[in-house]
Amino acid sequence: MRKKLLLGNWKMNKTPEEAASFARAASEMVDFAVSHNVDVGVAPTYVCLDAVKKAINPKCIVAAQNCSEHDHGAFTGEISIPMLRAIGIDWCIVGHSERRAYNGETSEACNAKIKALLAAGMTPVYCCGESLEAFEKGETKKFVAEQIRAGLKDLTPDEARKVIVAYEPIWAIGTGKSASTEIAEDTIGFVRRTLRELFGTAAVDMRILYGGSVKPDNVSAYIGAPDIDGALVGGASLDPVSFKGLIEGMLR
Ligand code: 13P
Repeated sequence: MRKKLLLGNWKMNKTPEEAASFARAASEMVDFAVSHNVDVGVAPTYVCLDAVKKAINPKCIVAAQNCSEHDHGAFTGEISIPMLRAIGIDWCIVGHSERRAYNGETSEACNAKIKALLAAGMTPVYCCGESLEAFEKGETKKFVAEQIRAGLKDLTPDEARKVIVAYEPIWAIGTGKSASTEIAEDTIGFVRRTLRELFGTAAVDMRILYGGSVKPDNVSAYIGAPDIDGALVGGASLDPVSFKGLIEGMLR
């Protein structure tokens, strides 16, 4: 039985003080979610990770938004997995569409990061999702299958089981235009079939999230779909009241 998961991606928002204030406000709602068998987490910016980790309910997952595949060296501006581990971070988002678009991240680069995270005992959250152009051409499945095959290349079924996959159609991110539940369900069902081809029955245990304009009032529709195990939420995860609404929506 796959446990539901709500993960807030804060993107480039909040100072350490603002992030710690959210963390303190979220303590009870984290208990509430966990007691209802829902995992919850937030992904602050690097500079907020330590403040959030120290202030938040320890049952809350705290994830980084990115990492380097290298442990150390001449990689200006990068943050390594051992550095994240040193402050108690054991989850990390990989291959968000904004990083693919603005930082030229490829699925092959994501594959190296995912392997490095798994080797360090961390949980990667691997993002995939098609552009508006691919969506309009009816090429969503081709696009997403390529991202899955390249990003998760050469993983064993046991490794794959530890990866969370997030399907986020780019045209639905931050636009207020969420994918219909039919589209999300259809694509995520396809993602699971692709994972099954690659990893056999391990695919049944893998959690797949939907992301893209998820709000407190639409989250329950996604969660109701058999293959959708949770949500990766941007804008609506920034405010504690809205975050609580998302948790409540997950349970509806
Ligand atoms: P929004 O929820 O703001 O559309 O962002 C989705 C997202 O990119 C989460 O990673």
